[in-house]
Amino acid sequence: MNENSIFFFSGTGNSFDVALRTAGEIKNTDIINIASIKNAPSVDNYKRIGLVFPVYGFTAPNIVSKFISNLSKNCNAYYFCIVTLGGLGLGAEYRIYEKFKEIGVELGYIAHIYMPENYIITSIVTTDKILNKTLKDSVKSVKRISGDLINYTKKKPKRSIFYNMVEKISSEETKRWPLRAKDFVVNENCIKCKKCITICPVENIGMIDGEIAFETHCECCLACMHSCPNGAINYKTKTVGKKRYINPNIKIEEMKKYSL
Ligand SMILES: Cc1cc2nc3c(=O)[nH]c(=O)nc-3n(C[C@H](O)[C@H](O)[C@H](O)COP(=O)(O)O)c2cc1C
Ligand code: SF4
Ligand code: SF4
Repeated sequence: MNENSIFFFSGTGNSFDVALRTAGEIKNTDIINIASIKNAPSVDNYKRIGLVFPVYGFTAPNIVSKFISNLSKNCNAYYFCIVTLGGLGLGAEYRIYEKFKEIGVELGYIAHIYMPENYIITSIVTTDKILNKTLKDSVKSVKRISGDLINYTKKKPKRSIFYNMVEKISSEETKRWPLRAKDFVVNENCIKCKKCITICPVENIGMIDGEIAFETHCECCLACMHSCPNGAINYKTKTVGKKRYINPNIKIEEMKKYSL
């Protein structure tokens, strides 16, 4: 057991990339995939406990919120969060800070890092030029944030003026994620390679009568859609013809190696 831990959740690899880089900077760090955790892990001996994950609908993904609600209240570690986001947090950091507060755990530090947008249901993946710049800038952000973490810097989020305004949208979106994949359409380009089944972090994909089928505990990470080699998975018609994205610095298949 190392002296630090980083628990991460990631769909298209941005947060995995940030988790690996941060661990490389702060050293002596166990890296654990939140999606592999069945019961609340024992964390009491860690000095620093970090969570790295994407912002979904201006808050944490459901799986991360559940993980936070099961955290140890009796642990005196320095808790920190790094969230990755494609463009707009609108109070996400404060919302996450509040989740820790609700269970009586002090979140010592929270920061965000802009990464390439992957929510192609309503948005698009940017040009390669912007994408490469965003990834390059993120390396500097990780170094800056890691310096803070090494020094146990305290950083509380400010309550943004958008906090109340997006509260309703955020909680309604969050309720929709589990069933999101029920509206995924698999088209005739599917070659039944089963990559989507292997990639799904929460085992929400299987096969019924030889066809790809989605269950009802989707996290809406979009890893299946972005990693399908033939672009065969779409959300209704909203993602048809749109560019796909997987973080080029990592192999998303490797995320499962960081299982508890
Ligand atoms: C379901 C979903 C909701 C998202 N909501 C937001 C959001 O509210 N604000 C934002 O800036 N980015 C949003 N994004 C973009 C991701 O947060 C961003 O691309 C992130 O870096 C993806 O991380 P990952 O590659 O580790 O999965 C969303 C992405 C998904 C899949
Ligand atoms: S990854 Fe794409 S091609 Fe492979 S089984 Fe899934 S939908 Fe079909
Ligand atoms: S079904 Fe697709 S979008 Fe849903 S959790 Fe699995 S990989 Fe992510």
